[in-house]
Amino acid sequence: MSGLASLFSRLFKGGGPKSAVGLSIGSSSIKLVELAKSRGGWRLLHFGMVALPPDAIVNREIVNPVAVTESLKQLTGAMKLSTHRVCSSISGNSCIIKRMQLEVPNAKEIQDQVFWEAEQYLPFDPTEVVMDYQLLSYSKDKRADVLLVAIKRSILETYMSCIEDAGLQPSVMDVDYFAIQNAFESNYPLQPTESAAVIDIGAASTKIAVIHQGVPVFTKDSALGGQNLTAEIQRHLNLPFADAETLKTGASGGAVPQEVNDLTQVFAENLAREIKRTLDFYLASATGPSVNYLLLCGGSAQIPQLSRVIEEVTGLPTQVLNPFNAISYDPAMFTADYVSSIGSMATVPIGHAFRAGEAK
Ligand SMILES: Nc1ncnc2c1ncn2[C@@H]1O[C@H](COP(=O)(O)OP(=O)(O)OP(=O)(O)O)[C@@H](O)[C@H]1O
Ligand SMILES: [Mg+2]
Repeated sequence: MSGLASLFSRLFKGGGPKSAVGLSIGSSSIKLVELAKSRGGWRLLHFGMVALPPDAIVNREIVNPVAVTESLKQLTGAMKLSTHRVCSSISGNSCIIKRMQLEVPNAKEIQDQVFWEAEQYLPFDPTEVVMDYQLLSYSKDKRADVLLVAIKRSILETYMSCIEDAGLQPSVMDVDYFAIQNAFESNYPLQPTESAAVIDIGAASTKIAVIHQGVPVFTKDSALGGQNLTAEIQRHLNLPFADAETLKTGASGGAVPQEVNDLTQVFAENLAREIKRTLDFYLASATGPSVNYLLLCGGSAQIPQLSRVIEEVTGLPTQVLNPFNAISYDPAMFTADYVSSIGSMATVPIGHAFRAGEAK
């Protein structure tokens, strides 16, 4: 269980490299970002993405590793990265993140006790799981507050093989929640009394992390994502997937049929209600603080009315997260319009790049 565990470790900090690459293997596309560390902070060097065939990742598991590797090779071939070391992640049901409070008489025994207790309730065979944890605090009365991450070994190995076969080196494997937390914290100052929910709305999923005092105090993954809306448009207008996607994203440039607008509104309301239910569940079951505001990221955060609808349904201030608040860029290389157009999709890989920049 410990062999691959260090890959998850978020505990080592400082003295990182000058350039950092974050990689997100999403259900619909692969995104890569390279940032450079300078005295004034981080600067955008490269961003690229490539669409994946629809059968490459199903239920957030790689079912066609060859397609993923080939797409990743295509992307790295088109980008001139200055390092092959990347931070990437895994998400989905094979990945569990849990906060635990334990009584541990001796600080040296924290790891053993965390892993032993975790095995009691993990829904997987412990021998098939890779675990790591972050110690949040260890009090004088011998209570350890830890954040546990557990993932199915076979899933982790498939992701790592694809990354390695594409010629990259997975120096850190994280979970998507930590990436959105990193992207949020590096761009938005949060008061110690405040908490924010960061919501990654992708193609096949919506991931919610409530962040408070530097910790994701609550996380939830739902299987509702932008591809559900594309499927509805496909069904109602009897179109192939690609055409429905073009209509949905406004990429056609022409007038959007009223039916598409109506379906988009229904999707936004359903998603907003799902988010409200999740936040209500968090508030009812957790002793954690209430949520002050919501920030959206992921490609589907670009649905024009989504933040307004979520704000109306949840009653909480909502906006789209801008991961470039704290990242500069060379206007000779990127236009402001381009940078703003990639923000939502780039948030997760930027969070990984920040993490890669911390790692030794
Ligand atoms: N302008 C837009 N308007 C509406 N939806 C958009 C727009 N641009 C992209 N999307 C949607 O965003 C989704 C892709 O987002 P993202 O790249 O964050 O997902 P992913 O990481 O591939 O998926 P997941 O995180 O669920 O595994 C797709 O469903 C796509 O249709
Ligand atoms: Mg994603």
